[in-house]
Amino acid sequence: MKSLPVNNQEWLIKKIIKKGGTISFYDYMDFVLNDPNNGYYGSGKADLGSKGDFVTSPSMSDDFAFLLSKQIYEWLMQVKSKLICDDKLSVIEFGAGEGSLMSGLLEYFFINDKKFLKNVCFIIIEPNKGMIKKQQKKLEKYLNLGFNILWTSLEDLKDRSLNGVVLANEVLDALPVERITNLKGKIHRQGVSIDKKSGTLFFEEIKITQELEKSIASAEEKLDINIPPKYAPEGWTTEWHIDNKKWLKAIYTKINNGILLIIDYAKEAKRYYSLSNSNGTLISYKNQKIVENVFESPGDCDLTSHICIESLIYDSETLGFETIGIVKQGEALLSLGLAERLFEIQNELKDDISKALSRREALLRLVDPICLGDFKWFIFSKFDNNKRFKINSICIR
Ligand SMILES: C[S@@+](CC[C@H](N)C(=O)[O-])C[C@H]1O[C@@H](n2cnc3c(N)ncnc32)[C@H](O)[C@@H]1O
Repeated sequence: MKSLPVNNQEWLIKKIIKKGGTISFYDYMDFVLNDPNNGYYGSGKADLGSKGDFVTSPSMSDDFAFLLSKQIYEWLMQVKSKLICDDKLSVIEFGAGEGSLMSGLLEYFFINDKKFLKNVCFIIIEPNKGMIKKQQKKLEKYLNLGFNILWTSLEDLKDRSLNGVVLANEVLDALPVERITNLKGKIHRQGVSIDKKSGTLFFEEIKITQELEKSIASAEEKLDINIPPKYAPEGWTTEWHIDNKKWLKAIYTKINNGILLIIDYAKEAKRYYSLSNSNGTLISYKNQKIVENVFESPGDCDLTSHICIESLIYDSETLGFETIGIVKQGEALLSLGLAERLFEIQNELKDDISKALSRREALLRLVDPICLGDFKWFIFSKFDNNKRFKINSICIR
């Protein structure tokens, strides 16, 4: 990755200079995504969907929410049957983007079981005010209908107060990551510096923190990996998801009885930390195109990085979550009735062929193995007092 002038992003230049001229890559990613006035998500300028900067499954096809809703409904029923008391159920969505998934879920419940809907509270946990505004606009119809929809922070929820289903679609890949680089056989933390005269951003190695060192050493031991891998060339670089465990722990504390579904781009550890993956998985998107240089248009593009499959499972299980299953999105949606949905669309829209074709195309992209079909669905559960219940999942064959 080359350095580039920072495109007159004065707000960012000022921020980096205020911090002494060099910040960690973690802080850089946090600023460009979450700065409340200028960050991609913080300011609400993120544009998701087929006409925007990039697609997520719910922003591309309403059929995604429809199919997933079947699974959520089924899980809620199972959680309810396992509750001894008559606690209210919740559906909690982290990082709801433009509100497409939540809107689809509400519509599904509205159409299929209004009575059940009365006993479910819908919670969105979204730190970016700019995105909250978009979500509120998208969900206006349901708010006006008096649905129980709440925006809150995780900290404001009582410990062990959640009974239900927690969702995070493409959220972990938006959390800031550290970048680490191999120099002379040792790992260094990557920082971002600014040339004050030209306003050019460039990578610069900075001192590694104890927290980062400890976190890497622990993963090496538990997952039997080497970082950097043996014989890694000078400059081999990868990302480190330093916040995933904290995020999982915070959720674990709030769940009483429930299921956590994480959907994201993910790679196996042996492929992630391999010689051939010498520059990690960091990707920036704008106008449906990959932006090669992550310093280009900071705050105007998405910036994302894959998660590591084994690290996520290990972190979840050590906290106490039970793994119900890991499944590819393509397979999950087929199990949830994608083929029948295609048939329904054909019948529903037989007088509007062009609409039917575009719905069909969007639906097929959700399962295309070289598109969104390769996403992984991670399903974990936690039950009160470490009870172990068998949870049936339609999405796992
Ligand atoms: C890639 S978008 C995904 C949006 C949506 N889930 C979808 O699939 O369309 C990432 C979302 O996560 C939010 N986000 C970022 N950091 C977060 C955090 N720490 N907790 C919860 N949401 C976060 C962003 O503001 C944004 O809404």
